[in-house]
Amino acid sequence: MTVQRVLTGIKPSGTPHLGNYAGAIRPAIAASRHPGVESFYFLADYHALISTTDPLRVQRSTLEIAATWLAAGLDTERVWFYRQSDIPEITELTWLITCVAGKGLLNRAHAYKAAVDRNTAEGLDPDAGVNMGLYMYPVLMAADILMFKAHSVPVGRDQIQHIEMARDIAGSFNHLYGEHFVLPEAAIDASVATLPGLDGRKMSKSYDNVIPLFAAPAEMKKQIFSIVTDSKAPGEPKDADGSALFELYQAFATAEETRAMRTAFDEGIAWGEAKQALFEKIESALAPMREKYQALIAEPMQIERLLHEGAAKARAIATPFLAELRHAVGLRNLAAVATPAAVEKAKAALPQFKQYREADGRFHFKLVAADGRLLLQGEGFASPREAGSVVSALKQGAAFAVDGTRVVVDGQAVAALAEDVTPDELREALAVFAA
Ligand code: TRP
Repeated sequence: MTVQRVLTGIKPSGTPHLGNYAGAIRPAIAASRHPGVESFYFLADYHALISTTDPLRVQRSTLEIAATWLAAGLDTERVWFYRQSDIPEITELTWLITCVAGKGLLNRAHAYKAAVDRNTAEGLDPDAGVNMGLYMYPVLMAADILMFKAHSVPVGRDQIQHIEMARDIAGSFNHLYGEHFVLPEAAIDASVATLPGLDGRKMSKSYDNVIPLFAAPAEMKKQIFSIVTDSKAPGEPKDADGSALFELYQAFATAEETRAMRTAFDEGIAWGEAKQALFEKIESALAPMREKYQALIAEPMQIERLLHEGAAKARAIATPFLAELRHAVGLRNLAAVATPAAVEKAKAALPQFKQYREADGRFHFKLVAADGRLLLQGEGFASPREAGSVVSALKQGAAFAVDGTRVVVDGQAVAALAEDVTPDELREALAVFAA
């Protein structure tokens, strides 16, 4: 089975609410448990800087959103869970792709265009109050996605355009510099709820209609009782479809409970009674999580430690990949320039490919440096011809990617880097053959 990489981020710019949980965190955790999936979930704190200039808010929100993922049952052993700003490679990649991203493309981004339209309508300068972070938002987001070669990016509908831009940028880069990036796709899961907020519009910080996920029960109850309903009296039949109350109930109830609630609506349940049922439903789902959440928040050091571990795990991929990309665009080790003198010198002491058959009957190869050090250990191939064609592709300078220690050509893992060998060393050794 080929592994599907799934990646998504949440911007820490406020307190996590029911919509974040039911619409993003809960389905992401469920998806991360499927076999054949590698999940990358992160706190998009660089992105948060675009919409808030309050440092304490960024810090607090990052803590709260991290604790929410953990309290909701994310298995950090199984997934890559990290904070964006712990991966400096992401900002560096942002620059590399900024240089292939069309300004015209970014002019068309919805969030930027909406700001321009608002300004124009008010007779202001089109760019009044727009910072370059807002303008560059899609490029930073593309770097998040492309860095980890994600195939699938679960997001809300408002983010689809950003994923399309990431594809576009990846395509341009690949066209110019070789096939380095995977083209990602947005994943919109129809079965995942977009929760309505208190006023019936989509639950969102920007509408100020959110129900905080871990408010104290009394506060949660107050919020739920303030959900806007129509003025139908007890006993009057009520429409479940289009009722925010009903939709919220559905997001936390089983199919059977939801059917029973629909019947109760038909039979004219009083709004107060329906609100009480919703409160109890949500409270029973959240109470055990709230307890874990509070324990986690009380020990931020533990969260910090988990994020550091996650960053190390993510950088094991990001660092060698960025080295590959730097090389691709020409940010290279100058000592490795193929001057005639350097080629002569290298020829005098050539690294060597060695092919042989192992006891397992398969055909292997290795690349040994001039000084005898093992650089690369090939996979076992079914025939000498297959092993030979990989060797000659590498000698002729075929594009390869390094993922951890795996060396990948045309999407196939063909060899592993030997211990302590960097992708740059391998590249330099192979450059000798090409020269
Ligand atoms: N822009 C996303 C949002 O506001 C958050 C985000 C940042 C993200 N980087 C990402 C989502 C990469 C998916 C993939 O919801």
